[in-house]
Amino acid sequence: MAPLRVGELPPATIVRLEEDGPAVVLLDQRRLPDDVVEVRCSSPAEVAEAIGTMVVRGAPAIGIAAAYGMALASLRGEDLLEAERVLGASRPTAVNLPWALARMRDEPTPERARALHDEEVERCRLMAAHAADLFASGTRALTHCNAGGLATGGYGSALGALRTAAERGLLERVLVDETRPLLQGSRLTAWELEQAGIPHAVIADSAAGSMMARGEVDLVVTGADRIAANGDTANKIGTYSLAVLAAYHGIPFYVVAPSSTLDPGTPDGSAIPIEERDPAELTDRFPARNPAFDVTPAQLITAIVTENGVHRPPYKESLR
Ligand code: MRU
Repeated sequence: MAPLRVGELPPATIVRLEEDGPAVVLLDQRRLPDDVVEVRCSSPAEVAEAIGTMVVRGAPAIGIAAAYGMALASLRGEDLLEAERVLGASRPTAVNLPWALARMRDEPTPERARALHDEEVERCRLMAAHAADLFASGTRALTHCNAGGLATGGYGSALGALRTAAERGLLERVLVDETRPLLQGSRLTAWELEQAGIPHAVIADSAAGSMMARGEVDLVVTGADRIAANGDTANKIGTYSLAVLAAYHGIPFYVVAPSSTLDPGTPDGSAIPIEERDPAELTDRFPARNPAFDVTPAQLITAIVTENGVHRPPYKESLR
Protein backbone atom coordinates (compact mmCIF):
# COMPACT_ATOMS: atom_id res chain seq x y z
CA MET A 1 0.00 0.00 0.00
CA ALA A 2 1.22 3.53 -0.72
CA PRO A 3 1.92 5.59 2.42
CA LEU A 4 -0.75 8.23 3.11
CA ARG A 5 -0.23 11.88 4.02
CA VAL A 6 -2.11 12.31 7.21
CA GLY A 7 -3.55 15.76 8.07
CA GLU A 8 -3.69 16.96 11.68
CA LEU A 9 -5.66 19.48 13.72
CA PRO A 10 -3.30 22.22 14.97
CA PRO A 11 -3.14 21.93 18.81
CA ALA A 12 -4.13 25.59 19.36
CA THR A 13 -7.38 25.05 17.46
CA ILE A 14 -8.37 22.37 20.00
CA VAL A 15 -7.54 24.27 23.20
CA ARG A 16 -5.57 27.46 23.87
CA LEU A 17 -5.11 30.31 26.31
CA GLU A 18 -5.61 33.87 25.05
CA GLU A 19 -3.90 36.30 27.39
CA ASP A 20 -5.75 39.24 25.88
CA GLY A 21 -9.11 38.98 27.50
CA PRO A 22 -7.99 36.62 29.07
CA ALA A 23 -9.79 33.38 28.17
CA VAL A 24 -9.38 29.66 27.59
CA VAL A 25 -10.74 28.97 24.12
CA LEU A 26 -12.04 25.49 23.33
CA LEU A 27 -13.21 23.88 20.10
CA ASP A 28 -16.76 22.83 21.02
CA GLN A 29 -16.63 19.04 20.64
CA ARG A 30 -20.38 18.75 21.29
CA ARG A 31 -21.10 20.49 17.98
CA LEU A 32 -18.70 18.53 15.76
CA PRO A 33 -18.74 17.46 13.01
CA ASP A 34 -21.61 19.65 11.79
CA ASP A 35 -20.48 22.95 13.27
CA VAL A 36 -16.92 24.05 13.93
CA VAL A 37 -17.38 26.63 16.68
CA GLU A 38 -15.42 27.74 19.72
CA VAL A 39 -16.39 28.35 23.35
CA ARG A 40 -14.60 31.13 25.29
CA CYS A 41 -14.19 30.52 29.01
CA SER A 42 -13.39 33.68 30.97
CA SER A 43 -12.95 32.07 34.39
CA PRO A 44 -11.73 28.77 35.84
CA ALA A 45 -15.35 28.03 36.82
CA GLU A 46 -16.34 28.32 33.16
CA VAL A 47 -13.48 26.01 32.17
CA ALA A 48 -14.70 23.49 34.78
CA GLU A 49 -18.23 23.80 33.40
CA ALA A 50 -16.90 23.21 29.86
CA ILE A 51 -15.07 20.07 31.02
CA GLY A 52 -18.14 18.79 32.89
CA THR A 53 -20.44 19.34 29.92
CA MET A 54 -17.89 17.87 27.49
CA VAL A 55 -17.19 20.92 25.37
CA VAL A 56 -13.69 19.49 25.78
CA ARG A 57 -13.27 15.79 26.55
CA GLY A 58 -10.70 13.02 26.36
CA ALA A 59 -8.30 12.43 29.24
CA PRO A 60 -5.20 14.39 28.15
CA ALA A 61 -7.28 17.25 26.67
CA ILE A 62 -9.15 17.59 29.97
CA GLY A 63 -5.81 17.89 31.79
CA ILE A 64 -4.52 20.47 29.31
CA ALA A 65 -7.73 22.54 29.58
CA ALA A 66 -7.46 22.45 33.37
CA ALA A 67 -3.80 23.58 33.18
CA TYR A 68 -4.86 26.55 31.06
CA GLY A 69 -7.67 27.12 33.59
CA MET A 70 -5.07 27.48 36.36
CA ALA A 71 -3.05 29.92 34.25
CA LEU A 72 -6.28 31.85 33.65
CA ALA A 73 -6.96 31.94 37.41
CA SER A 74 -3.50 33.33 37.98
CA LEU A 75 -3.86 36.00 35.24
CA ARG A 76 -7.18 37.05 36.79
CA GLY A 77 -5.72 37.15 40.31
CA GLU A 78 -8.21 34.55 41.53
CA ASP A 79 -7.86 32.28 44.57
CA LEU A 80 -5.68 29.48 43.18
CA LEU A 81 -6.69 26.86 45.75
CA GLU A 82 -10.35 27.43 44.94
CA ALA A 83 -9.65 27.32 41.18
CA GLU A 84 -7.82 24.01 41.61
CA ARG A 85 -10.70 22.63 43.68
CA VAL A 86 -13.35 23.63 41.14
CA LEU A 87 -11.36 22.36 38.14
CA GLY A 88 -10.42 19.14 39.96
CA ALA A 89 -14.07 18.35 40.66
CA SER A 90 -15.19 18.75 37.03
CA ARG A 91 -14.87 15.05 36.06
CA PRO A 92 -13.75 12.09 38.18
CA THR A 93 -12.27 9.35 35.99
CA ALA A 94 -9.44 10.77 33.87
CA VAL A 95 -6.34 10.90 36.07
CA ASN A 96 -4.79 13.43 33.68
CA LEU A 97 -6.91 16.07 35.40
CA PRO A 98 -5.32 15.83 38.90
CA TRP A 99 -1.98 15.09 37.19
CA ALA A 100 -2.07 18.39 35.28
CA LEU A 101 -3.33 20.39 38.27
CA ALA A 102 -0.46 19.05 40.39
CA ARG A 103 2.02 20.15 37.72
CA MET A 104 0.60 23.69 37.68
CA ARG A 105 0.71 24.14 41.47
CA ASP A 106 4.23 25.60 41.77
CA GLU A 107 4.02 27.82 38.71
CA PRO A 108 0.50 28.49 37.38
CA THR A 109 1.72 30.50 34.41
CA PRO A 110 0.69 30.56 30.74
CA GLU A 111 4.21 29.36 29.85
CA ARG A 112 3.92 26.31 32.12
CA ALA A 113 0.47 25.45 30.72
CA ARG A 114 1.67 25.80 27.11
CA ALA A 115 4.72 23.64 27.86
CA LEU A 116 2.46 20.97 29.37
CA HIS A 117 0.30 21.08 26.23
CA ASP A 118 3.34 20.82 23.91
CA GLU A 119 4.73 17.91 25.94
CA GLU A 120 1.45 15.97 25.79
CA VAL A 121 1.37 16.29 22.00
CA GLU A 122 5.01 15.20 21.79
CA ARG A 123 4.23 12.18 23.99
CA CYS A 124 1.48 11.28 21.50
CA ARG A 125 3.91 11.32 18.57
CA LEU A 126 6.38 9.12 20.46
CA MET A 127 3.82 6.54 21.58
CA ALA A 128 2.23 6.48 18.13
CA ALA A 129 5.60 5.52 16.65
CA HIS A 130 5.96 2.68 19.19
CA ALA A 131 2.37 1.51 18.64
CA ALA A 132 2.68 1.53 14.84
CA ASP A 133 5.47 -1.05 15.22
CA LEU A 134 2.68 -3.46 16.26
CA PHE A 135 0.89 -3.10 12.91
CA ALA A 136 1.54 -5.53 10.06
CA SER A 137 1.06 -4.57 6.43
CA GLY A 138 -2.66 -4.40 5.50
CA THR A 139 -3.92 -4.08 9.10
CA ARG A 140 -7.68 -3.67 9.57
CA ALA A 141 -8.09 -1.97 12.95
CA LEU A 142 -11.07 -1.33 15.18
CA THR A 143 -11.24 1.59 17.63
CA HIS A 144 -13.69 2.88 20.22
CA CYS A 145 -14.64 6.37 21.39
CA ASN A 146 -12.33 9.19 20.31
CA ALA A 147 -8.65 9.03 21.18
CA GLY A 148 -7.60 11.49 18.49
CA GLY A 149 -6.10 14.96 18.54
CA LEU A 150 -9.39 16.27 19.93
CA ALA A 151 -8.95 14.06 22.99
CA THR A 152 -5.25 14.75 23.57
CA GLY A 153 -4.80 18.37 22.53
CA GLY A 154 -3.20 17.29 19.24
CA TYR A 155 -2.13 14.25 17.19
CA GLY A 156 -3.95 11.62 19.28
CA SER A 157 -3.09 8.47 21.24
CA ALA A 158 -4.92 5.49 19.68
CA LEU A 159 -5.77 7.59 16.65
CA GLY A 160 -2.18 8.83 16.60
CA ALA A 161 -1.09 5.21 16.28
CA LEU A 162 -3.51 4.83 13.36
CA ARG A 163 -2.09 8.00 11.73
CA THR A 164 1.48 6.78 12.01
CA ALA A 165 0.55 3.30 10.78
CA ALA A 166 -1.21 4.92 7.78
CA GLU A 167 1.83 7.09 7.09
CA ARG A 168 3.95 3.94 7.06
CA GLY A 169 1.54 2.33 4.58
CA LEU A 170 0.50 -0.38 7.04
CA LEU A 171 -3.17 0.44 7.60
CA GLU A 172 -5.89 -0.86 5.29
CA ARG A 173 -8.84 0.71 7.12
CA VAL A 174 -10.42 1.43 10.50
CA LEU A 175 -13.76 0.29 11.89
CA VAL A 176 -15.05 3.01 14.21
CA ASP A 177 -17.43 2.10 17.00
CA GLU A 178 -20.24 4.60 17.09
CA THR A 179 -19.75 4.84 20.91
CA ARG A 180 -23.11 5.27 22.55
CA PRO A 181 -24.57 7.38 24.02
CA LEU A 182 -22.65 10.54 23.02
CA LEU A 183 -21.27 9.20 19.73
CA GLN A 184 -17.62 10.21 20.12
CA GLY A 185 -16.79 7.57 17.49
CA SER A 186 -19.26 8.46 14.77
CA ARG A 187 -18.95 12.22 15.30
CA LEU A 188 -15.34 12.85 16.35
CA THR A 189 -13.16 9.87 15.36
CA ALA A 190 -14.83 9.54 11.96
CA TRP A 191 -14.36 13.31 11.42
CA GLU A 192 -10.67 13.14 12.32
CA LEU A 193 -10.11 10.08 10.12
CA GLU A 194 -11.93 11.80 7.25
CA GLN A 195 -9.70 14.88 7.62
CA ALA A 196 -6.65 12.64 7.72
CA GLY A 197 -7.71 10.75 4.60
CA ILE A 198 -7.66 7.39 6.41
CA PRO A 199 -10.20 4.85 5.07
CA HIS A 200 -12.79 4.09 7.73
CA ALA A 201 -16.33 2.88 8.37
CA VAL A 202 -18.55 3.58 11.36
CA ILE A 203 -20.25 0.55 12.92
CA ALA A 204 -22.86 0.20 15.65
CA ASP A 205 -21.13 -0.75 18.90
CA SER A 206 -23.06 -4.00 18.89
CA ALA A 207 -21.64 -4.93 15.45
CA ALA A 208 -18.05 -5.28 16.72
CA GLY A 209 -18.37 -8.94 17.74
CA SER A 210 -19.78 -10.10 14.44
CA MET A 211 -17.14 -8.13 12.49
CA MET A 212 -14.50 -9.98 14.52
CA ALA A 213 -16.20 -13.32 13.92
CA ARG A 214 -16.17 -12.61 10.17
CA GLY A 215 -12.41 -12.09 10.28
CA GLU A 216 -12.64 -8.36 9.51
CA VAL A 217 -10.59 -7.13 12.50
CA ASP A 218 -6.83 -7.69 12.93
CA LEU A 219 -6.40 -5.61 16.09
CA VAL A 220 -8.27 -3.33 18.48
CA VAL A 221 -6.67 -0.10 19.64
CA THR A 222 -8.10 2.31 22.23
CA GLY A 223 -7.00 5.13 24.49
CA ALA A 224 -7.34 5.22 28.28
CA ASP A 225 -8.56 7.53 31.01
CA ARG A 226 -6.70 5.94 33.91
CA ILE A 227 -4.34 2.96 34.11
CA ALA A 228 -3.92 1.40 37.56
CA ALA A 229 -0.56 0.07 38.80
CA ASN A 230 -1.48 -3.49 37.76
CA GLY A 231 -2.51 -2.43 34.22
CA ASP A 232 -6.29 -2.48 34.75
CA THR A 233 -7.51 0.30 32.47
CA ALA A 234 -10.52 2.61 32.61
CA ASN A 235 -11.78 3.87 29.27
CA LYS A 236 -15.07 4.81 27.60
CA ILE A 237 -17.98 2.50 28.41
CA GLY A 238 -17.97 -0.42 26.00
CA THR A 239 -14.19 -0.86 26.00
CA TYR A 240 -14.39 -3.81 28.39
CA SER A 241 -16.90 -5.62 26.15
CA LEU A 242 -14.59 -5.08 23.18
CA ALA A 243 -11.64 -6.52 25.09
CA VAL A 244 -13.66 -9.62 26.03
CA LEU A 245 -14.71 -10.04 22.40
CA ALA A 246 -11.13 -9.56 21.19
CA ALA A 247 -9.86 -12.22 23.64
CA TYR A 248 -12.54 -14.68 22.52
CA HIS A 249 -11.57 -14.17 18.88
CA GLY A 250 -7.81 -14.23 19.53
CA ILE A 251 -7.37 -10.62 18.37
CA PRO A 252 -4.74 -8.37 20.01
CA PHE A 253 -6.13 -5.58 22.17
CA TYR A 254 -3.82 -2.57 22.53
CA VAL A 255 -4.13 0.47 24.81
CA VAL A 256 -2.20 3.58 23.75
CA ALA A 257 -1.87 6.32 26.37
CA PRO A 258 0.68 8.82 27.68
CA SER A 259 2.41 8.42 31.05
CA SER A 260 0.11 11.20 32.34
CA THR A 261 -2.67 8.56 32.24
CA LEU A 262 -0.75 6.14 34.50
CA ASP A 263 -1.91 6.12 38.12
CA PRO A 264 0.64 4.20 40.18
CA GLY A 265 -1.20 5.26 43.35
CA THR A 266 -4.24 3.19 42.38
CA PRO A 267 -3.42 -0.50 42.86
CA ASP A 268 -6.09 -1.97 40.56
CA GLY A 269 -9.20 -1.14 38.59
CA SER A 270 -11.59 -1.59 41.51
CA ALA A 271 -10.28 1.67 42.99
CA ILE A 272 -10.81 3.75 39.85
CA PRO A 273 -13.72 6.21 40.23
CA ILE A 274 -16.24 5.64 37.45
CA GLU A 275 -18.29 8.61 36.37
CA GLU A 276 -22.06 8.12 36.20
CA ARG A 277 -23.49 10.78 33.92
CA ASP A 278 -26.98 12.20 33.62
CA PRO A 279 -29.40 9.40 32.59
CA ALA A 280 -31.06 11.96 30.29
CA GLU A 281 -28.10 11.44 27.93
CA LEU A 282 -29.77 8.05 27.25
CA THR A 283 -33.47 8.72 27.73
CA ASP A 284 -35.63 11.24 29.56
CA ARG A 285 -38.69 9.01 29.23
CA PHE A 286 -37.62 5.96 31.30
CA PRO A 287 -35.38 5.28 34.30
CA ALA A 288 -31.81 4.80 33.03
CA ARG A 289 -28.25 4.20 34.19
CA ASN A 290 -25.37 5.94 32.46
CA PRO A 291 -21.90 4.78 33.57
CA ALA A 292 -19.53 6.68 31.27
CA PHE A 293 -16.51 4.38 31.70
CA ASP A 294 -15.66 0.77 32.40
CA VAL A 295 -12.54 -1.06 33.53
CA THR A 296 -10.76 -3.55 31.31
CA PRO A 297 -8.80 -6.07 33.41
CA ALA A 298 -5.08 -6.16 32.64
CA GLN A 299 -5.22 -9.82 31.57
CA LEU A 300 -7.33 -8.83 28.54
CA ILE A 301 -4.79 -6.22 27.36
CA THR A 302 -2.11 -7.49 24.96
CA ALA A 303 0.11 -4.42 25.43
CA ILE A 304 -0.03 -0.91 26.84
CA VAL A 305 1.91 1.58 24.73
CA THR A 306 3.23 4.83 26.22
CA GLU A 307 5.82 7.32 25.01
CA ASN A 308 8.38 5.09 26.74
CA GLY A 309 7.63 2.05 24.60
CA VAL A 310 5.52 -1.11 24.40
CA HIS A 311 4.74 -2.47 27.87
CA ARG A 312 3.76 -6.17 28.13
CA PRO A 313 2.32 -8.10 31.08
CA PRO A 314 2.99 -8.29 33.94
CA TYR A 315 2.27 -4.55 33.96
CA LYS A 316 3.17 -4.11 37.63
CA GLU A 317 6.76 -4.54 36.49
CA SER A 318 6.68 -3.23 32.91
CA LEU A 319 4.87 0.06 33.73
CA ARG A 320 7.16 0.93 36.62
O1 MRU B 1 -16.20 10.85 28.11
P1 MRU B 1 -15.01 11.15 27.23
O2 MRU B 1 -15.39 11.46 25.82
O3 MRU B 1 -14.12 12.19 27.85
O4 MRU B 1 -14.21 9.80 27.23
C1 MRU B 1 -13.01 9.76 26.53
C2 MRU B 1 -12.44 8.42 26.43
O5 MRU B 1 -12.87 7.48 27.05
C3 MRU B 1 -11.22 8.31 25.60
O6 MRU B 1 -11.19 7.08 24.94
C4 MRU B 1 -10.03 8.44 26.55
O7 MRU B 1 -10.05 9.69 27.17
C5 MRU B 1 -8.77 8.25 25.89
S1 MRU B 1 -8.47 9.57 24.79
C6 MRU B 1 -6.91 9.93 24.71
